[in-house]
Amino acid sequence: MKINKKYYRTIRDNGKKRVSVFAIDQNSLPFRFSIIELKSTGDIYKAIREMTVRGAPLLGVAAAYGIYFACTEAAGKSYKGKDFSDYVYEKYKYILSARPTSVNPEWAMKKSLGEVAKGRDTREKISRALNTARRIADEDVRNCIRIGRAGSKIISDIYRNNRKRPVNILTHCNAGWLACIDYGTALSPVYISAERKIPVHVWVEETRPRNQGARLTAFELMQNGIPHTIITDNAGGLVIQKGMVDAVFTGADRITSKGDVCNKIGTYKTALAAHDNGVPFYVCAPLSSIDFTIKDGLEDIKIEERDADEVRYARDGRKKIELCSPGSPIKNYGFDITPSRLVTGIITENGLIKAEAGEIRKFRSGK
Ligand code: MRU
Repeated sequence: MKINKKYYRTIRDNGKKRVSVFAIDQNSLPFRFSIIELKSTGDIYKAIREMTVRGAPLLGVAAAYGIYFACTEAAGKSYKGKDFSDYVYEKYKYILSARPTSVNPEWAMKKSLGEVAKGRDTREKISRALNTARRIADEDVRNCIRIGRAGSKIISDIYRNNRKRPVNILTHCNAGWLACIDYGTALSPVYISAERKIPVHVWVEETRPRNQGARLTAFELMQNGIPHTIITDNAGGLVIQKGMVDAVFTGADRITSKGDVCNKIGTYKTALAAHDNGVPFYVCAPLSSIDFTIKDGLEDIKIEERDADEVRYARDGRKKIELCSPGSPIKNYGFDITPSRLVTGIITENGLIKAEAGEIRKFRSGK
């Protein structure tokens, strides 16, 4: 998608002999546009941990580049001692620990480790790791476009039923192109609908405490000319109740085998409001976001807890403004679980599927 009319992907490598990875710095958006260079497993860990790169599919690609760096480090002078695969596996665990909730880094790195294991020598292992990261990135773009086409069909049906009044979509957090490589998951149907000249307006929940909605979703919609309005997280219920929302579209960080959805904190409350008012709640995600090894979202998913300071302070560069009662304890849960019964459907690259074990099982072999 575009920033200041120039096309970007969120992450890419420079294709040189000594490969560097370049990613859009999501912590400086929307106030400053900058690109950071990543050259080691340490850089990848830090970028994921500090959310310079974020969003489930993008985390997957960044982590896959992490395995590539692990291979080059294992082969290089900086590494002495343990053998190649021990070192790479250690780095896999290290990168995985940066953010535990999304399944995509684990999925992408396991894919890469499988490819690396097939390499006959160090050189081939390194090149397999690099090609895997690139392939996952390209596949993600294709999947997001397919999600967008399937979701746009739903939007165009609503448009027809609404007698051609603009379609109001509500979204939470940022599951747009910034969270992926291009197009996004939850916002891809919006972008594709706009390309098809279907008028869409997006309600953007701000998404405390890091404001990915107010900062990132609003920014990318603005850059791409999509009408939108930022609302506080607390206002989502009201606009849904007042009939101002035709459908909710969100992303997912991990979907269980029975269709429970783990996504940014606050998604569950939005899903409850949608359910109470008969508004469809769609989750847009590639099949790689399904974790077939688990069933119950609440029991089986480790919810990331982040630093209390993200809640306590608002920041402007290095300046911090305290927002809470000094000394009061804070819990900063990063994600929540929306049970499958509240999910109208999951929009995947293979089309719309029901959030039910029987339906989801059919896609297991596709992993
Ligand atoms: O903590 P974040 O900003 O990485 O959380 C992002 C989300 O929850 C997204 O909705 C999710 O990753 C789906 S991304 C297409």
